[in-house]
Amino acid sequence: MTNVLVVYASRHGGTRGIAERIAATLAEAGVEARATSVETARDVAVADAYVIGSGVYMGSWLKEGTEFIARYAETLATRPVWLFSSGPLTGSTAKTEGLSAEEAALGPVDGPGSGGRKKVIELMELVHARENRVFFGAYNPADPPKAMAERLVRLMPASKGLLPAGDFREWDVIDAWARVIARELREKVPVA
Ligand SMILES: Cc1cc2nc3c(=O)[nH]c(=O)nc-3n(C[C@H](O)[C@H](O)[C@H](O)COP(=O)(O)O)c2cc1C
Repeated sequence: MTNVLVVYASRHGGTRGIAERIAATLAEAGVEARATSVETARDVAVADAYVIGSGVYMGSWLKEGTEFIARYAETLATRPVWLFSSGPLTGSTAKTEGLSAEEAALGPVDGPGSGGRKKVIELMELVHARENRVFFGAYNPADPPKAMAERLVRLMPASKGLLPAGDFREWDVIDAWARVIARELREKVPVA
């Protein structure tokens, strides 16, 4: 049976929740799956396929997420890999008109602010990832910041508009994506 490892880099639990939901939906669809954080991931090479996601901060994946992909790139490149980014907050005043979801979350394709998006594209190419799906995230201002940069952004007067509080994760969209992955795995991955 195909065994999927769903790995997440999460600072405040939003991405962890998405990863756990993907693993549960894959299991419901008859595909064996387990969710684990980048920090606690074990027996990585044992899996047949990977779903890897990170929370997005200031236009970039968390370093632990990019480092995980770089560390296991050789193994990942030989198996099906899907990436997801957990980011945008509904109602954010960041100018997102006319932008793709990736651009809205990870910045423009080129020029200033494009570093985070370029890094994800580079990692996608490295491991031949099939997709980088962007999901709406969650933000709870009562949860204390976990990094200096985050603390500073939260102190900015504009942060209220940039960071609307709430849980905007779209479970039906996430479930639908996981079911597509299950179908693709059933159709294309040789089962031992
Ligand atoms: C300081 C800060 C900066 C953020 N920057 C971005 C960003 O650049 N792009 C984006 O799409 N989301 C951004 N977000 C929203 C987060 O990605 C969202 O809250 C996500 O669900 C966090 O995932 P986590 O709880 O797994 O860490 C930011 C959130 C905070 C608190």
